[in-house]
Amino acid sequence: MTANQIRTAYLNFFRSQGHTLVPSAPLVPENDPTTLFTGSGMQPIVPYLLGAPHPEGTRIADSQKCFRSQDIEEVGDNRHTTFFEMLGNWSFGDYFKQEQIAWMWHFLTEELKLDPKRLHFTCFVGNDDLGIPKDTESAELWQKLFRDKGLEVGIGENSEVEGIGEGQHIFYYNEKKNWWSRAGVPGNMPVGEPGGPDTEMFWDFGSEKELHEVSAWKDEPCHVNCDCGRFMEIGNNVFMEYKRIEGGFEKLAQQNVDFGGGLERLMAAKMDNPDIFVGDIFDALRSHLETLSSKVYSSEGEYTYAFRVVMDHMRASVFLIADGVLPSNTDQGYVLRRLLRRAVRYADVLGIDSGNLSSCVLPLVTTYRESYPVLEIKQNDIAGVINEEENKFRETLSKGMRELEKRITDKTLSGKDAFDLFTTYGFPLEMTQEIALEKGIAVDELEYRDEFEKHKELSRTASAGKFKGGLADNSAKVTAFHTATHLMLAALRKELGEDVHQAGSNITEERTRFDFTYGQKVSREILDKIELYVNAAMEAGATVGTTVMLKDEAKANGVEGSFWEKYPDNVTVYQVVGSDGTIYSQELCGGPHVTNTEEIKAFGRFRITKEEASSAGVRRIKAIFE
Ligand code: ALA
Repeated sequence: MTANQIRTAYLNFFRSQGHTLVPSAPLVPENDPTTLFTGSGMQPIVPYLLGAPHPEGTRIADSQKCFRSQDIEEVGDNRHTTFFEMLGNWSFGDYFKQEQIAWMWHFLTEELKLDPKRLHFTCFVGNDDLGIPKDTESAELWQKLFRDKGLEVGIGENSEVEGIGEGQHIFYYNEKKNWWSRAGVPGNMPVGEPGGPDTEMFWDFGSEKELHEVSAWKDEPCHVNCDCGRFMEIGNNVFMEYKRIEGGFEKLAQQNVDFGGGLERLMAAKMDNPDIFVGDIFDALRSHLETLSSKVYSSEGEYTYAFRVVMDHMRASVFLIADGVLPSNTDQGYVLRRLLRRAVRYADVLGIDSGNLSSCVLPLVTTYRESYPVLEIKQNDIAGVINEEENKFRETLSKGMRELEKRITDKTLSGKDAFDLFTTYGFPLEMTQEIALEKGIAVDELEYRDEFEKHKELSRTASAGKFKGGLADNSAKVTAFHTATHLMLAALRKELGEDVHQAGSNITEERTRFDFTYGQKVSREILDKIELYVNAAMEAGATVGTTVMLKDEAKANGVEGSFWEKYPDNVTVYQVVGSDGTIYSQELCGGPHVTNTEEIKAFGRFRITKEEASSAGVRRIKAIFE
């Protein structure tokens, strides 16, 4: 069974259980102030877990593209990737533990035909202080399903300390392991954040002797959450029924299920090999790199690490570019730049001739064309972006390397030098650190951050190590800016034509910064007209509301949206409508917005302060309220 077949089997099975299949949301979240990238399947789903009605009902399933930039450094072992697909299904106040656990069991043992003797499950042990009870219901449900297959399995209460007892397949853990929220453990959750206990599913690769006894954990007992590599988590059922409040938790208005299972990991379990990079989803790319490098990939060898880095980074880059990210020195673009530049370095380690990275697009298109047709549609553009970035980096790479060697003194590299390497030779800090580390040299990171602080525009991105996109928060002013930004886009399209689309936005209390597709400078005269339109809409006291429409109907009605293929058949459309029926704006969007444009007036007049080039074919506007 290939990964593509696993994805299809999962989606078909959940469709047969009454779920509507929805397309993956983009890797760059729209209007989510908390993060630069979509890092889990549930991220685009949060509003519905909190009670907003989903246009497709109470049961949905998908395969969500995910990207975790925090995992860049983890890439290199047999299971971590920055980009991955998370299979997901959700109940919004519909079914709960009993159905979910039975379906998962069916999916694993009947659809994937995984041997139940190799499956293990964990459940939440409960926490009196938090007022959250032990999840005996889930444990007993799994136990019964084993029994139905003629297997009598035991439950381990304390396997972390005692190891796995004879015949045990179900284990209790505390909130460090069996609790899920976007913020992690209960103590880290901000007020209002949803979360809940979970039950996780593990595959046993079965080679305890080989894996555990030679691992760093050999002196401790092996258990399913041990990091020795014997077990792999293949899915997580979150019973999301709590919300963080001041001093504790309260129940959400509805009991939700949030399931997420890594496709690559399910593939690893199915092929019974913990190295996902030998899995069929990497076949085309891997053999392409083998040809280019005249080397053969193996799970353990001199080139294993370099092969894995290039495979991961190229796949992630291709998907990011397809979703509209371009290499730059800020935000998502900086992360993409790091990936591509790191891929260049490790392609060199593999002995791949320069100028070849963009040829990785084709094997990826071959692998993914059916599920993600956009890769094929955009393949030339994607290859172009990669080529340009590789060329640009190569122009300075060898000079930069020489410069780096020169500037390394004793055991450190000064932060100022590291910063120069970034600004002059395009070496991302993390790459300089990595190269320095190979030579046993540390980089003065504090000094580097100081340098960055002095260069304000850049520092916003990388210095704090925290990346923000979309809206800075959900304050009234930011929300007002967001609605005004929609009005501005409508005006831009009116003045400049229908080819104008959003290419990115970043909204703070101070201003809205908006990127849009357009090839030339916009005159002040036009900008004045756009201001006028936005201010008139604010004067008109137009109502902001949502309606659910069929996607085709929305398209035909001129609703604005950038990534149509990413939306389900029924879409939620934001409309700004005046009392005389004038439609000031209609866009695919997830909010938040003011309810009446009059509310925006409280912050002043809308004024465009700047219009400039952002990247090829993209313009950038900054606007304020004054
Ligand atoms: N949201 C859950 C996770 O990412 C399923 O693990």
